[in-house]
Amino acid sequence: MNIAYTESADGVTPAMLAGFFEGWPVAPSPDQHLEILRAADRVVLARDQHRVVGFITALTDGILAAYIPLLEVLPDHRGTGIGSELIARMLRALDGLYMVDLLCDPPAQAFYERCGMTRATGMLIRDRGALGRPDDRGSV
Ligand SMILES: CC(C)(COP(=O)(O)OP(=O)(O)OC[C@H]1O[C@@H](n2cnc3c(N)ncnc32)[C@H](O)[C@@H]1OP(=O)(O)O)[C@@H](O)C(=O)NCCC(=O)NCCS
Repeated sequence: MNIAYTESADGVTPAMLAGFFEGWPVAPSPDQHLEILRAADRVVLARDQHRVVGFITALTDGILAAYIPLLEVLPDHRGTGIGSELIARMLRALDGLYMVDLLCDPPAQAFYERCGMTRATGMLIRDRGALGRPDDRGSV
């Protein structure tokens, strides 16, 4: 399998982003997904010939702190090292910052520990109305 990694969403179309946000009760549409990739301060994409098969985003002030809100690999590409490569590349891109944070469920903590991160406790708010009604979220 030939996977290329890029640090920009240039050339990506919404149609190339199908299949992500598996299991989310309210998921961004592919159009919104592309906007997210373009608006993030840092992005790393894993691409095969025709589509994006994995992605990671980060938001950062560029001085002190960064947050990694999203990391996902398409189900049929999992377990082949793509997720590890995406987080490794992102941590290199954020190297030098004091703090790099993300939230994850307990079963994923071992995965992030292997990538050099440390277990922690966090807090959050989720507003499921924030993405709009499905009919308002564009096509594809
Ligand atoms: C987490 C994710 C990105 C890992 O991608 P991947 O390409 O499969 O990762 P890799 O192939 O590099 O590594 C897979 C290893 O991580 C482990 N792992 C990853 N996520 C895990 C999870 N949620 N629970 C348990 N184990 C997990 C796998 O069991 C596997 O372990 P092994 O190497 O000992 O077999 C992918 O499983 C995914 O997209 N999950 C759904 C979205 C998600 O949970 N994102 C993270 C939100 S914090």
